[in-house]
Amino acid sequence: MNNIETDRIICGDCIEEMKKMPDQCVDLIFADPPYWLRVDGVLHRVNGNQYDGCDDEWDKFSSIEDYKKFTKEWLSQCKRILKKNGSIWVIGGMQCIYTIGAMMQELGFWFINDVIWFKKNPTPNFMGTRLNNSHETLIWAIKDQKDSYTFNYKTAKELNTDTVSEKAYAHGIRKQLGSVWKIPLCQGVERIKDKDGQKLHSTQKPETLLYRIIAINSKINDIVFDPFGGTMTTAVMAKKMGRRYLSIERDETYCEYGQKRLDNTNISVGNIEKAIYDTKPPRVTFEEMISNGYFTVGEKMYYQGKPYYYLTKEGKLYQENINETIDIHSGIAKVKKSKAKRLNGWDYWEVCRDGHLILIDTIRQKYLKETKGYEQN
Ligand SMILES: C[S@@+](CC[C@H](N)C(=O)[O-])C[C@H]1O[C@@H](n2cnc3c(N)ncnc32)[C@H](O)[C@@H]1O
Repeated sequence: MNNIETDRIICGDCIEEMKKMPDQCVDLIFADPPYWLRVDGVLHRVNGNQYDGCDDEWDKFSSIEDYKKFTKEWLSQCKRILKKNGSIWVIGGMQCIYTIGAMMQELGFWFINDVIWFKKNPTPNFMGTRLNNSHETLIWAIKDQKDSYTFNYKTAKELNTDTVSEKAYAHGIRKQLGSVWKIPLCQGVERIKDKDGQKLHSTQKPETLLYRIIAINSKINDIVFDPFGGTMTTAVMAKKMGRRYLSIERDETYCEYGQKRLDNTNISVGNIEKAIYDTKPPRVTFEEMISNGYFTVGEKMYYQGKPYYYLTKEGKLYQENINETIDIHSGIAKVKKSKAKRLNGWDYWEVCRDGHLILIDTIRQKYLKETKGYEQN
């Protein structure tokens, strides 16, 4: 695999700098490119104050062709430097995300999801001339349809506070993470200020947004790359979460403030960062557990208090009267008259221990803990 020097900011043009990088050298890309907002003149709030939205030089392009050319160049480089099993996330508003998305498809990226970042506290439409624009879109894509990619599915569930109430979450309820993320705009102490106490960057992204992406899409020590670093939100969150980082930014002032922000960032790696919810248990066979005395050949296998089968020495289910041998997963599907051919037998079958019925998965977990030191979360 191609090695690169990580944990640093490169101050320069991202297209030129990416050209110097080897093929397939980063695991995860987060790109927050210029929006090309096309803001002309000065916007005012209803009270007459000037609105400090994004009218920065870096956001200016001369034409749609110009923007498309730029988009194609940086996306092509991203595709080249992204590892085969890596992911790219691109964020943008209505002014740019459709152009970017179309270009990504032209370049052969394969879309996994688009995510709506629903801003809990959006900037108002001061003049009341259109709907309040309260979201941005993120595209999550991979290099090729055939590629596999890191997805910490259970970790994503742990992060889902969008569709699970605080009370339900505290009671252990978890639901699949959806594609609408409710996250406030970057504000308060998180917002980087310049020497005059004014916000340094007009489009600094919230750390929570990057936290989610890095948590669900990468592993400890992976390389997280950002071609449009800005205030270095991506690099900061990658460092905090025990990943390596590399960010490019053209503006020297942003690089300087970003470096300070990084220097003040401590690493803090917990269960989410380690994705321990997604750790697969070591594989064990029934035969192994039988030979270690955790199950007994010939013992009865129960479902909802009723014995259906006997356990064979191969860890299968046997029913004498119909002379049938079946695996635990197909067996439970049959007993439950399920439309599916197989269900997870570990979640249903029980055996009798000391006069009580116990789920076979409880015994499997006991075996894993006592013999392999593995504990389920
Ligand atoms: C939308 S902002 C990114 C903000 C960043 N995600 C954050 O949280 O602070 C885009 C950034 O890209 C930088 N930029 C624009 N064109 C660039 C280029 N060709 N190479 C490197 N940086 C560029 C701009 O200076 C700007 O800071």
